[in-house]
Order: sequence, then C-alpha cells, then structure tokens
Amino acid sequence: MSEGSRPHVLVTGGAGYIGSHTAVALHEAGFCPVLLDNLDNASIEAVSGVREICQEDLPFHQIDVRDGASLDKLFSDLYAQGTPLQGILHFAAHKAVGESVAQPARYASNNVGGLAVLLETAAKHGVNNVVFSSSCTVYGEPSQVPVSESAPFQTAESPYGWTKQACERVLTDHAQSLAGAHVALLRYFNPIGAHPSAIIGELPLGVPNNLIPYLTQTASGIRQKLTVFGNDYPTPDGTCVRDYLHVMDLAEAHVAALKWCKTQASTSSVVRAFNLGTGQGASVLEVIQTFERVTGQQVAHEIGGRRAGDVVAIWADPSRAQKELAWSTQRDLATSLQDAWRWQEKLGR
Ligand code: NAD
Ligand code: UD1
Repeated sequence: MSEGSRPHVLVTGGAGYIGSHTAVALHEAGFCPVLLDNLDNASIEAVSGVREICQEDLPFHQIDVRDGASLDKLFSDLYAQGTPLQGILHFAAHKAVGESVAQPARYASNNVGGLAVLLETAAKHGVNNVVFSSSCTVYGEPSQVPVSESAPFQTAESPYGWTKQACERVLTDHAQSLAGAHVALLRYFNPIGAHPSAIIGELPLGVPNNLIPYLTQTASGIRQKLTVFGNDYPTPDGTCVRDYLHVMDLAEAHVAALKWCKTQASTSSVVRAFNLGTGQGASVLEVIQTFERVTGQQVAHEIGGRRAGDVVAIWADPSRAQKELAWSTQRDLATSLQDAWRWQEKLGR
C-alpha cells in the first residue's frame, strides 16, 4: 500500500521509547505514522531505526508540541496533501519522577501545557481521536490488587504523577466540551524490553532510574552493582512487586485503542481509561532471577534501603482492555528480558 492511501496518524514523542515501537506497530497494522518529536529525550537514530524496520521513509517532523503555529501548519499541510490526520497518539512528555520533583514547573509546562496546545490544534482541524499515555502512577498505592480502572486516584506522589492525573482531567473535560471526541486514556504499568530486531529500544540518558536498564547495564559491566531497593516489604520475598509488560505488547495496545476510537459513533463523545499490563506481578528478585536464567548472565546485586515514594505492590486488572479492545499481552517476562538484553548487547558498553 502506498503511503498516501493509508490513514495518517500523528505520533507525538515518536522518536522516544514507546512512541518508536508504537510507530512500528501502527505501520504493521496498515497506518502511516507521522512522527513528531523535539528530540529533547531521543535521538534521530530512533527515527532511522523505525524507518529501517518498516522499510519505508516514514515522515518525521522535529517540532515541539507546544509550538502551536508549527503544529497548525503540519495539520494543514497533511490535509492539503490529501492525507488528513485520523487520530493522534500523544506520547510527548517529560517522564523522570525524580527530575519532576526538582523541576515541577517544567513538567507542568511540557506535560500539561503541551497537551493543551495539541488539543486546541486538533479541535481546530476536526481531529477527534486521541490516545493518551497515562500511567498506573495515577493510582498511587492501591488499596487492593490487581487494580482496576475504577480504583480511586491517590494524591500524586510527585509532580510527574500529578501531570498524568491533570492530563486525564483535561482530556475528560475536552471530550465533554466537544461533540464526537473519542479519547482513550492508556494507563501503562511497567513497559520493558525492546523490538526483537534490537534496532530500536530504550535509550536512558545518564544513570538509569528504572530497574531494567539498570539491570542490563550491570550485566554488561557498565554499572558495578544493582541495588535492590528494600527487602522488608510485605510481599512474598520482601521486594516490591510490579507488572512488567513487553513494549511491543504495549505498542499493539495503542493500535487497538486507536481502532476503538475510530469505531465510536461520530456524534457522541467518549472517554475511557484502560489498564495496560499482563495481570501478573513480579518482584524485583524474581526479575533478576528470570533475567539470569534466560540470558545466562549474572547480575551483581545487593540489598539496599527502600527508595522514597515506591509503591509496595501493584499489578493490573487488564480485563477491560481484553474485553473492549480485544487486546492482551502476548510476550512473557522471560521474552521481555531477553529482548532487553539483546538491545543492551547491541548498545555495548
Ligand atoms: P521517552 O522520553 O522515551 O519519549 C518521550 C518523547 O517525547 C521523547 O522522544 C522526547 O524527546 C519527546 N518530547 C518530550 N517533550 C516534547 C515536546 N514538548 N515536543 C515534542 N516532543 C517532546 O518516554 P517514553 O518512555 O517513551 O514515554 C512515553 C510516554 O509514556 C510519556 O508520556 C510517559 O510519561 C508515558 N509513560 C511512560 C512509562 C515508562 O515506563 N516508560 C510509564 C508510564 C507512562
Ligand atoms: C517508576 C515511577 C513511575 C513511572 C515509571 C516509568 C517511581 C516511584 N515510579 O515506576 O511513576 O511511571 O517509573 O518511568 O519512581 N528498583 C530497584 N533498583 C533499581 C531500580 C528499581 O530495586 O535500581 C525497583 C524499584 O524499587 C521498584 C521496581 O524496581 O520496585 C521497579 O522500579 P522502576 O523501574 O523505577 O519503576 P517504578 O518504580 O514502578
């Protein structure tokens, strides 16, 4: 199929970790992803990687999502060339929890301000389908697990968490104000791994904060030792429990959510939140053991103190996404960790 005959969709943050993998999944599903990124936390090589996997020179625009004039021109140009946008997948945001504590205004400006500019532009151009990157962080420490979408929000632990709650509210109000708006709020649990080709993956800048990049960097010798943040939690082995899902499963959920938006009645507005996870919890020690078993690599690690702000245990009830999006995860923890390791090996030391 030629680029022109496929539905075009905007992927903001398309050079980032989840956006780049989603672009691949969208292409596989017959869409033409139009990548947009200001390259604040990504490299142009990710765009080349997406193009290499898709074997196509997909469009990329280096634009800041807060730049309303450039966005407006992009929407107009796509319309004029006969490929109006059919939807938006909005990934562009800052995402480091610790950094958000030090720079709350920067997080509010980019994450909430960026969404506002995007929505104004979208409304002006009649683009009504929006898939948004939210996070299980909106639930805080849940009173019961697995957590379902009806669980109440807790007071956000960080400015980052607050921006996700605020964006969900902005999107809900937006949809109520606009006939025919279709919004999917995707609450990700812990995305890990990389495309199995190892052509694209996660590119953490500096010392990683998240478990999997720290673990793979330790296995490859970049870091000396992984510190397990606490083993005195009320969990089976004392370490925290999370729901780790493969980034390609997450990417495919976005395709399903976009299709869901497109099938909603054109005159009615709808906002729906979906948990995206495996439905299984894994502890930090289980992750380390699984990684060692499937890769044959040893991970030097020690038990350290608890990390401030950590939730003890959270995993998803993904039944709504299974039922309404016909989506469920296809790759297990072992596969996710193998793909994470293949990517780390390619990055080298
Ligand atoms: P990422 O940093 O790899 O990707 C985000 C991309 O957005 C980057 O390429 C960055 O350059 C770009 N960007 C940031 N601000 C921009 C702006 N103003 N204009 C244009 N581009 C901009 O992060 P990711 O892990 O791919 O996360 C994508 C989304 O998913 C984010 O909204 C994040 O908050 C959310 N999320 C991520 C996780 C996770 O564990 N990675 C979990 C829950 C939610
Ligand atoms: C964190 C954020 C969350 C964000 C997500 C993706 C916090 C409190 N939460 O989730 O809001 O959406 O990242 O960016 O920061 N761990 C170690 N040693 C390490 C690193 C992590 O033991 O060196 C443990 C953590 O204590 C946690 C688990 O590994 O139990 C996963 O940690 P991480 O990958 O940072 O993700 P979250 O904390 O779940």
